[in-house]
This record gives sequence, C-alpha cells and structure tokens, in this order.
Amino acid sequence: MNLKLINIKSLGGVHKEGTKWLRGADLAHFPTIENAYLIIKEGKISSFGPMSNCPQDELPVQNCNGQHVMPAFVDSHSHLVYAGTREEEFNLRLKGASYEEIAAAGGGILNSAAKVSTSNIDELVGQAQFRLQNLIDYGTGTLEVKSGYGLDPENELKLLRAIKTLNKKSSATLIPTFLAAHALPAWAKAQGMDDASYTKYMLEQCLPILQSEGLALFLDGFIERDYFKLNALQHLIDASAQSGLPLKIHVNQFYDIGGIEMAVAAQALSVDHLEVMTPEAMNSLHGSNTIATLLPSCSYFLGIPYGPARDLIENDTVVALATDYNPGSSPGGNMQLVCNMACTKMKMTPAEVLNAATLNGAAALNLSDRKGSIAVGKDADLVITKEIPSLEYLCYDFGINHIQTTILGGHIQ
Ligand code: NIG
Ligand code: FE
Repeated sequence: MNLKLINIKSLGGVHKEGTKWLRGADLAHFPTIENAYLIIKEGKISSFGPMSNCPQDELPVQNCNGQHVMPAFVDSHSHLVYAGTREEEFNLRLKGASYEEIAAAGGGILNSAAKVSTSNIDELVGQAQFRLQNLIDYGTGTLEVKSGYGLDPENELKLLRAIKTLNKKSSATLIPTFLAAHALPAWAKAQGMDDASYTKYMLEQCLPILQSEGLALFLDGFIERDYFKLNALQHLIDASAQSGLPLKIHVNQFYDIGGIEMAVAAQALSVDHLEVMTPEAMNSLHGSNTIATLLPSCSYFLGIPYGPARDLIENDTVVALATDYNPGSSPGGNMQLVCNMACTKMKMTPAEVLNAATLNGAAALNLSDRKGSIAVGKDADLVITKEIPSLEYLCYDFGINHIQTTILGGHIQ
C-alpha cells in the first residue's frame, strides 16, 4: 500500500541511518522534524522530510494536521499467549501473600500451565488475538512473545505453534522466544529432575522440532534463586551456542545469584527485569552489548523495586523498555503506560523513554535494521497520535490512549 502523510506536526524517531541502538547521553535525544511529510511505498518508508520538500507525486494522502507520527512501539518482552487469567491470585496478594508464596503453593506459573494444558491451539490463539488487537490500538507494532506456560515439550510446542499461527493472522510482527525454563513442574520433580536436568531435557526435546518448524528465534530462562540457577543457565548458554539462537534471560527479579555476569559473558542479547542489582552485575554490563530490558509495569503490579534505569544509563548500558505482559506479574501490555511509569518511577526523561521503547526495543530483538526508527527502507510501522501538544505528552498524560491510528507494514489498522 502506498500512502503520503502530510502536515505532520512533528515526526519523531528520525535517527541517523544505520543507528542500531542508543546508550548513555545519546539516549537523551529523540530527534524530530517539525511540520513534516512521510511517504510509504510497498510497506516501507520511502522518503520523509520537511513539508517544504514534499514531492508532488500522485499518492493517496492522509492529512495529519495537528497530529504527530513516530515509530510504532517495539515491545521486546511479553508472554502474550496464555490461557485464562489469575485475578484470584491478585486478591490473595492484596491480602498479603507474596508472589513467591503463591508460586510455592502451586499458583503462579504452575496455575497458568494447568490452564494451557487443557486448551487447544485455537483457544490460545483466540484469547491472545483479542489482547493483541488492544495492543495494536495502543501503538505496539512488534511484540516478542515467549512460550513458558507449557512446562513439558508437548505444551511448550503447542504455545510456540499458537504464536506462529497468531503471527500469520496479524499484521503486527510477533517474535517467538522459547522460554525453556520457567518453573519446575510436578511431573519433572516426580522423575527426580532438578532445575538443571529439567532445563537440559526441555532443550534436548524441543530444540530439534522448533528449529525444523521455525518456531523460535531466541532462548530464555527464569534465572532466580527459587527457580532456575546457574547450572540451568549453563545449559541455556550451551544450547544457544549449538543452535545459534541468541539468549534473552529473565534475571535478578527477586535475588542476585550471579546470572547477569554469566549471561553477559556468554554475550546474551538481553538481560531482562534487573529489579535487584549488585555492583558486580552493574560492572559486567558496563559498555556491554547485552541490552538491559526494564519492565516497570511488573514492578508496579508486584510492588517490587524498579530497575535502576538512571544508573544503567550512566553505566553506558543499552536500556530497553518492555511490558512483560503476562497473567501473573503484569496483566497489561500498554506501552504508553510503561513509558509513563519509566518516567515517574525510574526517572527516565520522555525522550529517553521514547527511544528505549522503540529503537532499543528493536535492538533487543536484533531488528534494528527493520524496526524502531524513521529511516528510508525500514518497515512502515508507525503511529499517528491524536491532536496532542507533543510526542513527549504520550509519556505525561497517562491512562488514556493517545494513538489515533496505527499503521503496520504500510497498512492502516
Ligand atoms: O516475567 N518472571 C517470570 N515470568 C513472568 C511472570 C510469570 C507469571 O507469573 O506468570 C515475568 O514476570
Ligand atoms: Fe517475563
């Protein structure tokens, strides 16, 4: 589809061609062109600039008078495909039970896994499709989606096949991750497996199938004191080296057990959560190419500390923002709200936040060459705002949707 957007009040995210990610002081600048045009041809951005340079070619025109345009959000950490919901656990937590206590009593991830095991692919796709449409309306164009509520080979593959089916049905770009180690299920304990041997088993069983069917682009594990420890991480590192699938690791959500240092040494693509940090973990990320993905809506919902965004930015670490959309720790996937929380709770500036939620999110999925900024040749995944004063206003006026139109692959949604 070809389209010419004209009279754009400001066009944001206009980074220098070839910019892969932004770190340190560079993160603080969200470059914009005032009073701009942008032309979409065959689903890609074909040209853009100030209105004074707008070509006269005969294309369908959309007048964006008073509206702003920026890249669609790239949400690089979610668990969008799950079955049912867990609001009964929300009630328990409000009465004082902790996330870990609920998990230890068979709730949490195990609760969601029980619901997945009795759902078929169509049901999983149907529920996730409903959630995804809301996210698109709120400006998300690309979304990483993890498995991890299967907890046995058959159900993990079912989740990954559901993600693949949903990706085909949707004009959003879904990036699948095999979350091989999320919680140790009862059947594995009964067979005498521990966290490490279960992780090894899951990787051995699933990797050949998911590679032959093209079901996952990344590997993940929940590296925590009470979930999967460093021996399990080592199996993930070995499987990543052998399969070529990069690592994105849940780590340092509740405790530090040295997972970040190990993941960074293994050149993980990203380490995600980071609510609990130590000087050693911070040092290992200094200037590294492993991206720190922060998830403020998880901190908000669980009442746990927020990731130390300011320290990480000053530490020359690449910081991305994502939703962690899942039924237990972040039952919401609104990137606009994440942007607001990153400002109010993590003291990031709106400009930093808009970069971290677009280009750095794309980098956390190895997609910087296609997504996350306004550049000629990139996918035309864009949002057109309502009539608001500025793009930064998206981060300021919270709780309502400031997006008028989402365009994905050049198509108005
Ligand atoms: O990223 N931390 C591990 N996994 C999810 C939560 C899973 C759940 O509670 O269902 C997360 O927060
Ligand atoms: Fe997560």
